[in-house]
Amino acid sequence: MSQHLTLVDHPLVQHKLTIMRDKETSTKSFRQLLREISHLLAYEVSRNLPMTDVRIETPLEAMDAPMIEGKKLALVSILRAGNGLLDGILDLIPAARVGFVGLYRDEETLQPVQYYCKLPEGLEDRLVIAVDPMLATGNSSVAAIDLLKEAGAANIRFLCLLAAPEGIARMKEAHPDVPIVTAAVDDHLNEMGYIVPGLGDAGDRMYGTK
Ligand code: URA
Repeated sequence: MSQHLTLVDHPLVQHKLTIMRDKETSTKSFRQLLREISHLLAYEVSRNLPMTDVRIETPLEAMDAPMIEGKKLALVSILRAGNGLLDGILDLIPAARVGFVGLYRDEETLQPVQYYCKLPEGLEDRLVIAVDPMLATGNSSVAAIDLLKEAGAANIRFLCLLAAPEGIARMKEAHPDVPIVTAAVDDHLNEMGYIVPGLGDAGDRMYGTK
């Protein structure tokens, strides 16, 4: 993946995203739409995945045909909202290895603090796709990518649903080698760090916690 930012402006993605943004959309529909969109985003973020040829027999003859090397791929969900994207991608690439990074925001320093980290082994040999629906300030995304690099990952992509210009700039500064794939770039962040117009708190909307 050569460019730093890829915008997935396919009509199906944009249509589903509009329904997700609508505050009247139910938790159940929001979760279902996120799963559907993650299939479509997975299509984009999985371009140039490591492939391997396998010998098969069609009804006509034997051939060497390409398959995804699922074991060469690690998906890392940034908790908790990342799980919404993760589940959809796993529908398509079930053999991928999966890791989780949990970060909370210290209310005084506003900096991300790690409370959980469980990553697959051998990250140095894998393509690592980190997923979080909302790239807002970029603080937690940058911290999560820092962790992945400390664990050895060298080939990382970041997948989100919505991005703020501030978060994109922060990621580009800290991790210019990590391409970002998103369905939309919104206008700005508000004083609470929410993406505007956005869709609200992705975790709350997915799990009905508000
Ligand atoms: N996280 C969210 O869930 N929503 C935002 O708008 C920003 C960060």
